[in-house]
Amino acid sequence: MLALLVLSVSLLLDAVRAAVPLSLNPPPNAGPPVLASFVSFSIEFASFPDFAGNSSRPNNFSYHLLSNLGRLQGSHPIIRVGGNTQDYATFNASQEVALVGSYDFARSRDYPTTISIGPAYFESYSTWPNMTYIHGFNLGTNGSLGHDTLVGTVPLACEALSDGRLAYWQLGNEPDLYKTSAQGPVRPPSWNETDYVQEWLNKTRTVRQLVQEHCPDVISQGQFQFYAPSFAGTANNLDLVTTWVAGLDADVDIAFIDSHNYIGGATQPGVTLQGTLMNHTSTVQSVVKHVNESSLLADTGIPYILGEANSLYNEGAPGLSNSFGAALWGADFNLYCAATGIRRVHMHQGINYRYASWQPVQTVNETWGTKAPYYGNVMVATFLGDLTQGNVSISDIELDGDSVYQSAYGAYVDGRLERVAVIQMHAYNYTVTAPADATATATATASPRPNETFSFQLPTKTAQGQAASIKTVQVQRLTANGSDAITGITFDGYSYNYELDGGRPVLLRNVTRGEVLQVSADGMVAVEVPWSSAAILNLQW
Ligand SMILES: *[C@@H]1O[C@H](CO)[C@@H](O)[C@H](O)[C@H]1NC(C)=O
Ligand SMILES: *[C@@H]1O[C@H](CO)[C@@H](O)[C@H](O)[C@H]1NC(C)=O
Ligand SMILES: *[C@@H]1O[C@H](CO)[C@@H](O)[C@H](O)[C@H]1NC(C)=O
Ligand SMILES: *[C@@H]1O[C@H](CO)[C@@H](O)[C@H](O)[C@H]1NC(C)=O
Ligand SMILES: *[C@@H]1O[C@H](CO)[C@@H](O)[C@H](O)[C@H]1NC(C)=O
Ligand SMILES: *[C@@H]1O[C@H](CO)[C@@H](O)[C@H](O)[C@H]1NC(C)=O
Ligand SMILES: *[C@@H]1O[C@H](CO)[C@@H](O)[C@H](O)[C@H]1NC(C)=O
Ligand SMILES: *[C@@H]1O[C@H](CO)[C@@H](O)[C@H](O)[C@H]1NC(C)=O
Ligand SMILES: *[C@@H]1O[C@H](CO)[C@@H](O)[C@H](O)[C@H]1NC(C)=O
Ligand SMILES: *[C@@H]1O[C@H](CO)[C@@H](O)[C@H](O)[C@H]1NC(C)=O
Ligand SMILES: *[C@@H]1O[C@H](CO)[C@@H](O)[C@H](O)[C@H]1NC(C)=O
Ligand SMILES: *[C@@H]1O[C@H](CO)[C@@H](O)[C@H](O)[C@H]1NC(C)=O
Repeated sequence: MLALLVLSVSLLLDAVRAAVPLSLNPPPNAGPPVLASFVSFSIEFASFPDFAGNSSRPNNFSYHLLSNLGRLQGSHPIIRVGGNTQDYATFNASQEVALVGSYDFARSRDYPTTISIGPAYFESYSTWPNMTYIHGFNLGTNGSLGHDTLVGTVPLACEALSDGRLAYWQLGNEPDLYKTSAQGPVRPPSWNETDYVQEWLNKTRTVRQLVQEHCPDVISQGQFQFYAPSFAGTANNLDLVTTWVAGLDADVDIAFIDSHNYIGGATQPGVTLQGTLMNHTSTVQSVVKHVNESSLLADTGIPYILGEANSLYNEGAPGLSNSFGAALWGADFNLYCAATGIRRVHMHQGINYRYASWQPVQTVNETWGTKAPYYGNVMVATFLGDLTQGNVSISDIELDGDSVYQSAYGAYVDGRLERVAVIQMHAYNYTVTAPADATATATATASPRPNETFSFQLPTKTAQGQAASIKTVQVQRLTANGSDAITGITFDGYSYNYELDGGRPVLLRNVTRGEVLQVSADGMVAVEVPWSSAAILNLQW
């Protein structure tokens, strides 16, 4: 009886829940036009030779996955090569192999903390056609070893990145953590913003002199430009705005204000898939500090980007960061960033990392393959569309009712609404078994998967006041068996799995696609979105 009552009340609520009105032109809360290569990556410095391969053994699987995203968003992702290990890597000119790393499990189980690179390291920049890079130089290693590493690697990096491979430069990863790093401090406690700025200017001037000497075209073509300061931004040991005031851009060579972001930590108490990642409020709270910082620096006119980001720091948590739920989080996080004026996001990758979009080689810890988060990258690139063909701006659509477990975005192309994304983040765990009172022989069955209906009032008039003509809407869905799925994920019926065609798109015969929604005469359209899935509505103008 009670259940029936609850059901009818919820039906009633559904019936009275107003359709969300969508404007024809970008609403006031829409972000500025998204920059080309919004979907970009950051690859851990020590992992880069495995991700890219070398001249004799290029990693084509990685290249296929990157090219797929390039086709969708109109230009390849930009690859930043850096992370904690960029500040551990020292240079040995007579070392034949690309990279020698040794682990110290007390410092990290996930990457080597003593690293030596040889000239062969830079071969990995030659394997992927038409890709551009940000090379991260070592700032963390101080004294003569740090100086010799910089002087030894600048000529090799600038030569390897000639022929159009250079995007930007970077010096130092998360220097705001140098005094307190869990892997061992590399600067004294007194080191402050003024000291950092002096050191950064001194070393970037050294880099510039070496580039001028070895790769003068980089300077003459105006390509001596940095991502900086690449702060972690959480510990506040150094403040980004203070750094700016202290003169970080005195040489006017910073192209992007670069900050990093993680929603929480892999082993932080209380972190869960539903509460931390599949939670729009949590994403909003994580992004707002960047929005505030970016507004404090607005008059620099320099775009603000996230040069390294992912779900949970310390390389992600198994069962969370590698799940389909994390792919939905990734779609929500990136689209929310786009809607709030963060101009580009580099998702961080590394060998064996739990949050990685793909594992490019087989290791004892992780199988070779396309991972769940990659499908979130595909959804974002599809929704943004070809950023080289028009101005695309994204708006965060305010939903009626629940705004914690679901979100929606509008994509405006050259000022006109073209697509709507809906992300439903109620966890649907398909491996949850029957209640405990079931007999010992009972088979595990998941409860039926609920879905939510989203109704939108589409614009019915053009800018000129004529009747608009959206008659149908085509749907593309991001789906899997549930939020806990780590395999069997598809976007619009396509799989990008390694075992199918090495990371090239493969249309599966057993997944429904091609769904078309009818729009009523008064411009209403409704879409059902199962829990733990997402959909893109493509308006057929
Ligand atoms: C990898 O891709 C390159 C071109 O990008 C091609 O020349 C080469 O044959 C490919 N290697 C394999 C093993 O497919
Ligand atoms: C540099 O590499 C060479 C060749 O592997 C090795 O013999 C030498 O010991 C290395 N130098 C240092 C300082 O590690
Ligand atoms: C190139 O890659 C292959 C395969 O990973 C490896 O065996 C070889 O040592 C690499 N070459 C260098 C110079 O590191
Ligand atoms: C690289 O870019 C050039 C110029 O846009 C294009 O002609 C060429 O086909 C591209 N090559 C690949 C492998 O994408
Ligand atoms: C170099 O780093 C060490 C900590 O690893 C610190 O004690 C020392 O003062 C630093 N030197 C300079 C010049 O910053
Ligand atoms: C950094 O420390 C020096 C020496 O104590 C001081 O002169 C300077 O004002 C400090 N800088 C900032 C930004 O606090
Ligand atoms: C950097 O600082 C060192 C030590 O103070 C100095 O010798 C060097 O000339 C400086 N380099 C540049 C390019 O300013
Ligand atoms: C969602 O995130 C917000 C902000 O961090 C938090 O207050 C709330 O408890 C979270 N929801 C759940 C179910 O954990
Ligand atoms: C990877 O596997 C090795 C060997 O089994 C193990 O020692 C190491 O702890 C594993 N690394 C992680 C991050 O689990
Ligand atoms: C899904 O349910 C299974 C079985 O109860 C549980 O072990 C697992 O932790 C759940 N996964 C998530 C991501 O909640
Ligand atoms: C759908 O097809 C793919 C590729 O052939 C296969 O791996 C997958 O198991 C199939 N899914 C179902 C539910 O049959
Ligand atoms: C939504 O749920 C209803 C009722 O269970 C079902 O008929 C419908 O097919 C579901 N829609 C989708 C898109 O799964």
